[in-house]
Amino acid sequence: MSHPATGAALRPHAEQSYADELAALERADSRPRPPGWRMSPWAVTQYILGGKLDDGTEITPKYIGHRRVVEIAVATLATDRALLLLGVPGTAKTWLSEHLAAAISGDSTLLVQGTAGTAEEAIRYGWNYARLLAEGPSEAALVPSPVMTAMADGRLARVEELTRIPSDVQDALITVLSEKALPVPELSMEVQAQRGFNVIATANDRDRGVNDLSSALRRRFNTVVLPVPATIDEEIDIVTRRVADLGRSLELPEVPTSLAEIRRVVTVFRELRQGVTTDGKAKVKSPSGTLSTAEAISVVTNGIALAAHFGDGTLRPADVAAGIHGAVVQDPVSDSVVWREYLETVARERDGWDGFYRACREVSR
Ligand SMILES: Nc1ncnc2c1ncn2[C@@H]1O[C@H](COP(=O)(O)OP(=O)(O)OP(=O)(O)O)[C@@H](O)[C@H]1O
Ligand SMILES: [Mg+2]
Repeated sequence: MSHPATGAALRPHAEQSYADELAALERADSRPRPPGWRMSPWAVTQYILGGKLDDGTEITPKYIGHRRVVEIAVATLATDRALLLLGVPGTAKTWLSEHLAAAISGDSTLLVQGTAGTAEEAIRYGWNYARLLAEGPSEAALVPSPVMTAMADGRLARVEELTRIPSDVQDALITVLSEKALPVPELSMEVQAQRGFNVIATANDRDRGVNDLSSALRRRFNTVVLPVPATIDEEIDIVTRRVADLGRSLELPEVPTSLAEIRRVVTVFRELRQGVTTDGKAKVKSPSGTLSTAEAISVVTNGIALAAHFGDGTLRPADVAAGIHGAVVQDPVSDSVVWREYLETVARERDGWDGFYRACREVSR
């Protein structure tokens, strides 16, 4: 159930948040559109990567990364193959999938959340049992899945965490993707996919093997791997922009974004993740958590909330220390040791990191 009129949703869908940009792109777009698409692949890519339109509209970048990766993803969706976005946690798989669906179909909400408990009804259809019992099988008693709705309307369906779904349920997708039709034997009918229908799935590298995709299903997907940011500057750029976006949408009081503090958070994350200091001189142990870009974004956002509400309005080391500690120390025993060692051997020695070192010591006591 949706109540779009109030405009106070805690987290509006992409097509709501960026309605103005999407409308401007549709107006400006004179290139050919694949059947059922709201805009051309070129305009979708522009929406994702940002830029300035001829009429002066600023399109904000959503995904920060290689143009080619986005182009391949968009082009895939214009073919008869589905798109699988693969990558380690926090590489914006879900985020990109939402924005692709918003730009291509104008609707990012046809979503199946994959878990070990996802049942076939989530991909095919279910029944409203009260009606089924009262009236027998009828179209009115049928409860379509998001996939079925997407097929009927010619839109994109999103399947999150595909590899977590039990393999017999995954198999239901094979029919959908190869036949482009979903039979409903109870009603002696089928739902045929309309033009514009396709599927974007996401899967986490780390989950691979849990329910490895069957080769039959894999063949129906083009896989696009979303990389972790290659350089520290790229990662700082992502964190800085996303923190600013989030701060705006949460209406956090303005805190001058302290680039130095963001750089430090990203440096700590990258060094722990990669197991070596930025200068390549010292090895460090990696903790058990993933320390993704997404986590760096939330550490900084939390820091800004602390600084704005309880601090002096400037992001200080003490404001990010607790967040970093929480992100690093997932396993209270082994990760504590790793974190202590990093603080003593790396952070303590570093020029200008004195305040940060002390703030972290304070938290980890
Ligand atoms: N390259 C990037 N460009 C823009 N935003 C990014 C990028 N990388 C990460 N983010 C941000 O990180 C946050 C989390 O991303 P998201 O939830 O999509 O990750 P995910 O890959 O789906 O992770 P998981 O495997 O845990 O589901 C989002 O707010 C997203 O904006
Ligand atoms: Mg995700």
